[in-house]
Amino acid sequence: MKKKLFITRKFPTHIVEPLQEYYEISQWEEEEIVIPRDKLLAAVTDCEVLWVTIADQVDEELLSYAPNLKLVTNLAVGYNNIDVKALRKKGIMATNTPGVLTNTTADLVFGLLLATARRIPESERYLREGKWKSWYPMQLVGKDVSGATIGIIGMGRIGQAVARRAKGFEMKVLYNNRRRRHEAEEMYGFQYVSLEDLLKQSDFVVIMTPYNSDTEGLIGAQELALMKDDAVLINASRGGIIDEAALYDVLKNGNLWAAGLDVFEQEPIAMDHPLLTLPNVVALPHIGSASLETRTAMLMLNVKALMAYGQGKAISNRID
Ligand code: GLV
Ligand code: GLV
Repeated sequence: MKKKLFITRKFPTHIVEPLQEYYEISQWEEEEIVIPRDKLLAAVTDCEVLWVTIADQVDEELLSYAPNLKLVTNLAVGYNNIDVKALRKKGIMATNTPGVLTNTTADLVFGLLLATARRIPESERYLREGKWKSWYPMQLVGKDVSGATIGIIGMGRIGQAVARRAKGFEMKVLYNNRRRRHEAEEMYGFQYVSLEDLLKQSDFVVIMTPYNSDTEGLIGAQELALMKDDAVLINASRGGIIDEAALYDVLKNGNLWAAGLDVFEQEPIAMDHPLLTLPNVVALPHIGSASLETRTAMLMLNVKALMAYGQGKAISNRID
């Protein structure tokens, strides 16, 4: 008998189709709209396998509706949407998509770095709004990325990929991480510093650490106060790591030069959010891994786990 698989979003047909060999598949038929919670809870009651995105919370409540659940695959490397402890208690497996999105996400981080430093979105708005009347020396002047100091909080795969790109821009690379990365220090000259020193010394602070109870609110008013007034803060990890109200205050008051944000406490961010009123904020709709190649590779990594489970084989990229 085929196993029951529920997919919380409409994924490309050619990617889902091969799974039919092992699964009786049902899915939420919308590509852009998140499945409402009550519909999700109703859908999981008889499924053995659940394929989710970061918009879906897999928590104790959901598990209480899903007595047959054995495997959850998450279309992301970050898995703060999944209560892994609760899964573990019930012996439910879970997988994510590490590795395949490292370079794509690091590329976007550099996009945000350049966009904030050189005021690219603001300059484009200026042109389109008909404000470009002449060329003058202090017009839309920004900050240099080349040769500046970058401080990376969270030196995992993506953090290291950001650091390697920074070397190409002849930047000095500081980092803070739970574990020292001795090999990377020796190979590339990255320098380990305390979080406090990183915040004080960096021209660009990049957050790449996973979101969990240790990193929730990691960057609040106190930490922002340590940063240089002309520094830039970039976050492409998860929104809850920065206190957004405190960030708004320092940006508004000239105690921080700019912020580049791909992630927010609440996603989608509300259109009347104070951060969106500031010209020195570059805000993106969580597109860190959004290249065609990488999103396809992420989907295929989930498919691989689902295939392995369907065939009764060992599953890789487990997070449980
Ligand atoms: C996206 O944010 C991911 O964690 O893959
Ligand atoms: C994710 O792949 C990370 O370890 O940063």
